[in-house]
Amino acid sequence: MAPNESRGVDRRSFLAGTACAAMAPLWPMSALSSSDASVREFSLSAGQAQVPLVGAPHPDTPVWCYNGSVPGPAIRVSQGERVRIHVENGLREDTTVHWHGVRLPNAMDGVPHLTQKPIAPGERFTYEFVCPDAGTFWYHPHQRSFEQVGRGLYGALIVAESSPPAVDRDVTWILSDWRLLKNAAISDDFGNMHDVSHNGRVGNTVTVNGRIRETFAVRAGERIRLRLVNAANARMFALEFAGHQPWIIAMDGQPVEPHVPEGNRMVLGPAMRADLVIDMRGKPGQRFTVTDAFYRGMAYRLLDLVYSDEVPVRTFADEPPVRLAANPLAEPDLKSAERHEIVFSGGMMGGMMSAMMDGKQTDIRTLMHNGLVWAVNGIAAKGHMLKPLLTLDRDRSYVLELVNDTAWHHPMHLHGHAFRVISRNGTPTQHREWLDTVLLDPRERAEIAFVADNPGDWMFHCHILEHQTGGMMAVVRVV
Ligand code: C2O
Ligand code: CU
Repeated sequence: MAPNESRGVDRRSFLAGTACAAMAPLWPMSALSSSDASVREFSLSAGQAQVPLVGAPHPDTPVWCYNGSVPGPAIRVSQGERVRIHVENGLREDTTVHWHGVRLPNAMDGVPHLTQKPIAPGERFTYEFVCPDAGTFWYHPHQRSFEQVGRGLYGALIVAESSPPAVDRDVTWILSDWRLLKNAAISDDFGNMHDVSHNGRVGNTVTVNGRIRETFAVRAGERIRLRLVNAANARMFALEFAGHQPWIIAMDGQPVEPHVPEGNRMVLGPAMRADLVIDMRGKPGQRFTVTDAFYRGMAYRLLDLVYSDEVPVRTFADEPPVRLAANPLAEPDLKSAERHEIVFSGGMMGGMMSAMMDGKQTDIRTLMHNGLVWAVNGIAAKGHMLKPLLTLDRDRSYVLELVNDTAWHHPMHLHGHAFRVISRNGTPTQHREWLDTVLLDPRERAEIAFVADNPGDWMFHCHILEHQTGGMMAVVRVV
């Protein structure tokens, strides 16, 4: 049992105390000022705030967040647009901002020490880049992210298609997970060894756009594009929409052949995104539950879709949504691709006896004294300044076989690129989806393929942030 489980409040007790079922506005206003027609400017200020995560009569929760809100402001731009984001650090520790999934120049990637000097308290840094791909992305710190993200620093980055699909509403749900104490404060046991060596910091309170939600209001006959972002440190989600059949139209921002999720469950590991199209085929006045059933025996109601009494907007023909236009990704040439195997090991029940740390073979006890329990090809990473695990030739195609030699799930994220998932456990994938974060089941193998077309040193790490800090991190260099 996690050290704080007994002290935590469960969601039900919070729900019982949640007085108001009305939807708060989904998005705070973003601090937008356009001084230059060709560049979209935004400002983000990381700092402390108090927010009603749980809602009355529970006290507000002290958080760290951007511009005083959880999530931070949604940054919305159009494909191909240049963005300039002024970041101010109002925290009492260093920070950076990483633009998760955006294929940007290395110097803008927000990795402390590796791509930039961390932003010290009171200092500023301006990020500027073009968003080459349309889709759903997000931003978060890369400095001590297991605590900074876990305290509320994250937001959506939405890049609009030049001709977006026809929907009645474009909605974003940022899913997050908190470990709260009875007074609704965040438990401060970040990075404890139990979380690091097991399945990460799975909390006791799930929020949608920074609040426990009771309901989400819909109207019969509307077609909704629902952008899901899993911003949790460690929690996986498997969403089931009772009475509805969502179509997946994009994963990690990248278009995919529209398809219904396997078993009608939308599985999202940390950092992963999915764009769904959901037709509201219920009748006026009806109510349907959205359940998260990822962890066996621990399913809970995320919220209810509540139909208004209005007459249906339309009656649906049984047609899947149209496929989104592809983003400008280079197609890997599998015949000429160079192949590498990357093995992930360690963790509880992993049987890891030793790993390389600071260039020396180190026994597991010493590793654990250094907070390390995970390894990538036998190397446990300490910090972001790492000797490259792989050095890839620019514009060459690569197939990486990812081998999960552990008893745990790992959402593996590569910076600066998107990759196709071409097989799992030796079986070709049906959709050959482009992702930036691939969820590996325990003991699973997956092959990913991509063209190494973005020069620089790129992180490749598990996005369970406790695993990342526990050594499950590497650098891939593209020269
Ligand atoms: Cu979303 Cu290296 O991170
Ligand atoms: Cu992991």
